[in-house]
Amino acid sequence: MSNYTEKFEKMRIAGKLASQTLDMLTENIKEGVSTAYIDKLGYEFIRDNGGHSAPLYYRGFTKSLCTSLNHVVCHGVPSEDRVLVEGDALNVDVTAIINEHYGDTSRMFCIGKTSVKLNNLIDATYQSMMKAIKILKPGIKLGDIGHEIQSYIEEKGFSVVKDFCGHGIGTSFHEPPNILHYGTKNTGMELKPGMTFTIEPMINAGKFNVKMLNDGWTAVTKDKSLSAQFEHTVGITENGYEIFTESAKGYSKPPYL
Ligand code: MF3
Ligand code: CO
Ligand code: CO
Repeated sequence: MSNYTEKFEKMRIAGKLASQTLDMLTENIKEGVSTAYIDKLGYEFIRDNGGHSAPLYYRGFTKSLCTSLNHVVCHGVPSEDRVLVEGDALNVDVTAIINEHYGDTSRMFCIGKTSVKLNNLIDATYQSMMKAIKILKPGIKLGDIGHEIQSYIEEKGFSVVKDFCGHGIGTSFHEPPNILHYGTKNTGMELKPGMTFTIEPMINAGKFNVKMLNDGWTAVTKDKSLSAQFEHTVGITENGYEIFTESAKGYSKPPYL
């Protein structure tokens, strides 16, 4: 038994709670529903399953999860006033705490029929995350992760957001190291067994530049182009990786149902 076995057991439980929350939301995200209602469902599900939501009261955040629509890059604040309409693309980002451990994951949801361009952006974003996850093992470097994402995304004609990154995670929400979604092969810190972190690329259809709204949280694309994101919490094992936040229902990317 390695010295991180117990930590991984707890990360598995936290990751499962976060991914089950998204699975439950998948069946409830539809036209006419407000983002505040999605937040309420997520809050209750996490609470009823023995955990609590990490974003609530985190650095003054007032909701339990993040809902980022269309040109919102990340950290969108759920609202009563925003009801989902046909053509919307929504990222829901859930972070659950249970037994002092954090599970952090996000997925995209499409409302009704969405454009080919949006579907391509969502598909590329998901593939970029999975390509980066598949190279994970001890001995590779952080720059290899960024390079995997950036090279794939830029070849598709999309751009990688630079102002936000993945992060170490465990018994705290955000801890070192930063996991950049762009970078150069064979540079940066070397991965070691037992490390746990998120990979959460934010990909824009237009330019990479981001602007903050006056609420101090909502980040949008500067050129108003569409943005997509997926996030998994992962751990490095002796010869590879483990994903803690995989959907048990196969709801990894749209279309889900
Ligand atoms: N879940 C986000 C992440 O992936 C962080 C949200 S912080 C909040 O790191 F306060 F906006 F919720
Ligand atoms: Co995260
Ligand atoms: Co997150």
